[in-house]
Amino acid sequence: MNVIIFGPPGAGKGTQSSFLVKKQNMYQLSTGDLLRAELKSKSELSKKLQEIMDSGKLVSDEIINDLIEKKVSEPSKKNNIIFDGFPRNIQQAQALDAMLNKYDQAISLVLNLKVDNSILVKRISGRVSCSVCKKPFNEFFDPPGDPTKCTTKECKDRELIKRSDDNESTVSNRLKIYEESTLPLLKYYNSKGVVKNIDAMKSINEVTNQINGIILDL
Ligand code: AP5
Repeated sequence: MNVIIFGPPGAGKGTQSSFLVKKQNMYQLSTGDLLRAELKSKSELSKKLQEIMDSGKLVSDEIINDLIEKKVSEPSKKNNIIFDGFPRNIQQAQALDAMLNKYDQAISLVLNLKVDNSILVKRISGRVSCSVCKKPFNEFFDPPGDPTKCTTKECKDRELIKRSDDNESTVSNRLKIYEESTLPLLKYYNSKGVVKNIDAMKSINEVTNQINGIILDL
């Protein structure tokens, strides 16, 4: 089963993807995480990416589709991917369909995480993530045991970091771009009959339970 986890910045896509990885043994394909890994290389490309991401704009479809095809084409990941943060516009959705077709795969489910904008700003500005396992915590809603360290068993004592695009000015731009370019994709996937709506205003556990219920019913 390939799943798209869909929703605005801060909706909980990464949080819920990591639970699906554990429960369903799926592969999380987060374009944001792949791009942030590229930033660490300090290449010419990474400087351009940093600028685009810090402004809240979208990285070019060409770069993104290339990153995606490298993963979709791997036989070990076939029909077992959670797409997190992709596709983000109609061109990316069409490119994904063509790729899936080429590798004899399909999208079975689009989980649409619905959250009001007023909550999203707090979720984003309060987010801190582990520098190693990437687990997100939240200073307001899901505080780590220690405000500076990751408290998971595997990463004990690793540093918690804030993303450079998690500030109020970038957030408003990211939300605007989501509404203009990404939200219209719901119509595209609704016409394929694969969208399930999730009330993602609820607590992290309640959202996980809604998702697990939908997957059990498939
Ligand atoms: P990306 O990394 O994909 O960011 P995003 O889509 O803006 O989403 P976020 O990671 O901010 O939020 P999330 O929904 O994963 O929320 P999370 O689970 O962390 O993209 C970053 C940038 O990269 C883009 O702006 C763009 O420049 C570029 N990019 C990426 N993909 C691209 C693409 N396909 N095309 C072009 N450019 C691309 O949760 C947020 C916080 O809320 C956490 O602190 C968490 O603990 C908390 N939380 C989660 N759920 C709940 C809950 N139910 N209740 C309370 N708190 C909660």
